[in-house]
Amino acid sequence: MREYKIMITTTFGVESVVKHELRKLNYEIDRAENGRVEITGSAGDLARCNLRLRTAERVYLKLGEFTARDFDELYENIRTLPWADIIPYRGEFPVRGKSSRSELHSVPACQSIIKKAVVDSLQQKHGQGRLPEDGSLYPVFFSILDDRVIVALDSSGTGLHKRGYRQEAGEAPLQETTAAAMVLLSRWDRDRVLMDPFCGSGTILIEAALLARKQAPGLKRSFAGENWFFLPPKTWRQARKKARQASWLEAEPRLIAGYDIDGELLKSARENAGRAGVDDIIHFQERPFREFSTSRKYGYVITNPPYGVRLKSQNVRELYREMGEKLRELNTWSYYILTAEKEFEKYFGKKASKRRKLYNGGIECQFYQYYGPWPPSGDDGSNE
Ligand SMILES: C[S@@+](CC[C@H](N)C(=O)[O-])C[C@H]1O[C@@H](n2cnc3c(N)ncnc32)[C@H](O)[C@@H]1O
Repeated sequence: MREYKIMITTTFGVESVVKHELRKLNYEIDRAENGRVEITGSAGDLARCNLRLRTAERVYLKLGEFTARDFDELYENIRTLPWADIIPYRGEFPVRGKSSRSELHSVPACQSIIKKAVVDSLQQKHGQGRLPEDGSLYPVFFSILDDRVIVALDSSGTGLHKRGYRQEAGEAPLQETTAAAMVLLSRWDRDRVLMDPFCGSGTILIEAALLARKQAPGLKRSFAGENWFFLPPKTWRQARKKARQASWLEAEPRLIAGYDIDGELLKSARENAGRAGVDDIIHFQERPFREFSTSRKYGYVITNPPYGVRLKSQNVRELYREMGEKLRELNTWSYYILTAEKEFEKYFGKKASKRRKLYNGGIECQFYQYYGPWPPSGDDGSNE
């Protein structure tokens, strides 16, 4: 069986969560740095990572790594890679990438050089003139950091945050991968009550429900790698089948509940949950935060309240004060709050047990984590 270098990218702050996910899937990590995690695996592993990783951005087939300080070096190194083994005559191969702290700092210039080197290599090997590029997609990706160039083929195509269940979103939707990272970082499990009082389109709760049922997040979408000629379709079919078999559809989490002031958003949250196949285990209700209450003794609040950067009209600071007052009353609960507001703790009125920088769609946020006590054994959050 052929072995590949598989490179998985993550947003800032999530690399360790992806590593944890990979270890749980029994992979050994070859290398992890700068938002990239590398493993070695088969074509089946490439498919498995796309289907099952909850917090990764994209899964790549790594093609090469070298140092280049000028365009000649870049061109020569790219041209010598075995492009004709992976891109067929009709294949479409857009090039995108990024560069930082390097001599080759102009991304458009690097894009053109790389495109030219791939075209020259393919034309020489395929022995044809102009390449039609009207076939399947083979997206080429490059990353240059401190003059080290990594070249890879993007097997995800569309970013992995696009699960396929969310067709409508509120004004400030949370990326699905960030929502999954919040749930995994909180260490919530299905035996605990979970509430999101600002649930919007339901992303956090849907990701939690998928996790509770061990449902692979990628089962409802397709991937660029599914059309690659050198990966047999059987590989993807088998990976999908195994992912389905690994899910635990009978799992009944204790309680997953979401509230929001916006009834229209809740309608789309219910539809999203339906598309994700978890609407039977999430309870949604229209309710302003000022009416948030619970009789459960133990539980988790994981939420992404409004914040000023994206939502203009809210008096968010006043809302954070209200949150602080209400949530502090639930002193046996744990709460996890993602916001871009840097002075959140001041308005909330309590310092977090721990905070962590996370990005949501390019916006720098803090994930404020307030740990509650563990329930005494046998007490799992049922009504008092
Ligand atoms: C940042 S968005 C949450 C996005 C959500 N995580 C998602 O996946 O779509 C904040 C949400 O808070 C809701 N909201 C604003 N003020 C509220 C209030 N006073 N009570 C309850 N919900 C409120 C908004 O309707 C919005 O859906």
